[in-house]
Amino acid sequence: MNIQTQIDELIKTHGKERKALMPILQDLAKQNRFLSKETLQYIGIKMDISAAEVYGTASFYSFLDITRRGENVIRVCKTISCDMKNKQLIVDTIKKRLNIGVGETSHDNKFTLLETNCMGHCHEGPVMLVNDDIYTNLTPQKTLEIIDKYSRG
Ligand code: FES
Repeated sequence: MNIQTQIDELIKTHGKERKALMPILQDLAKQNRFLSKETLQYIGIKMDISAAEVYGTASFYSFLDITRRGENVIRVCKTISCDMKNKQLIVDTIKKRLNIGVGETSHDNKFTLLETNCMGHCHEGPVMLVNDDIYTNLTPQKTLEIIDKYSRG
């Protein structure tokens, strides 16, 4: 099914009102992992919402990828509880292992590293998400083991 047909189907399911925008974007991101500018424009046209508003919503929630990402997307929580539990050490561990910065994708296209907002596991920080899997109480050692697991595929 091409992406325009997917959007048409999702509009049938969720409706065309403004409140349907988030569920439609979430479902599309699940099915495609990447939403192009043209896709966002098409949604705007079909839902009668400005392209800027669609883009703003998609980019505000960093769970929606609007630029192409690596095969595995790592999102480290940057919100206060995780920050106080030294999430920076986890970010630095990942940066060093993969030789990339935050917002970058490794040369082999295997990993993208991002920071994101609270994921609701504040008492178990530091926390990161790899694709759809959540990892809590991270240490540098545990983080490296997790990355190795995804490297092996
Ligand atoms: S502050 Fe990190 S999960 Fe809530």
